[in-house]
Amino acid sequence: MSDILNVALPKGRLGDKVYALFERAGYGCPELLEPGRKLIFESAENGVRYFFVKPSDVAIYVERGAADVGVAGKDILLEYTPQVYELLDFGIGKCKMCVCGRPDFRDDPARTLRVATKFTKIARDYYAGLGRQIDMIHLNGSIELAPILGLSDVIVDIVETGATLRENGLAVLSQVCDISARLIANRVSSKFKYEAVTQLTRRLSQVTEVK
Ligand code: PRP
Repeated sequence: MSDILNVALPKGRLGDKVYALFERAGYGCPELLEPGRKLIFESAENGVRYFFVKPSDVAIYVERGAADVGVAGKDILLEYTPQVYELLDFGIGKCKMCVCGRPDFRDDPARTLRVATKFTKIARDYYAGLGRQIDMIHLNGSIELAPILGLSDVIVDIVETGATLRENGLAVLSQVCDISARLIANRVSSKFKYEAVTQLTRRLSQVTEVK
């Protein structure tokens, strides 16, 4: 088996930042700078082949072995619990998973709490830990609308700068967990490409803020 590593990176700003770290770690790929519509970029010299996918799809590529390694947000790992190894915290793409709502919202324990979110597993686990009964409302985006329109009492969502909440008159009511970008690896690749995966992890940890 060839030891070239197939790497799934998240499309967009986070992916660009992460690629810069791979480059600093010695895994540059000049082909990436060429304009065009190619989807796969390879540097045989540095032993890597990159492809960019929707951020929430990275874990699927890695879990199923289409990619040996990838970079995914901790939110996706907690929500979908893919069967992959988590090797490194990049310390970038930092944000928080929070319970948010109207600033004057007071939870009445006598009533079932209506929670709107994209992250139903994270929300379910969080409230199960508190022993709080909830009515889950699964939405796919623009979650902040739910408490404004009275669809839910609160939301569980990602807060990065806090701008979306501020501009819509909402506030953080409690924090669920910290989120950041993680290096993940396919379980079989970790065995059969052990040397390459280990070297990549070591080199990336040397150019990363959080070790
Ligand atoms: C995320 C999240 C918040 C926003 C938080 O939305 O769901 O709406 O970013 O960022 P901020 O604190 O910096 O304002 P995203 O852009 O992923 O869109 P969507 O959830 O509405 O699909």
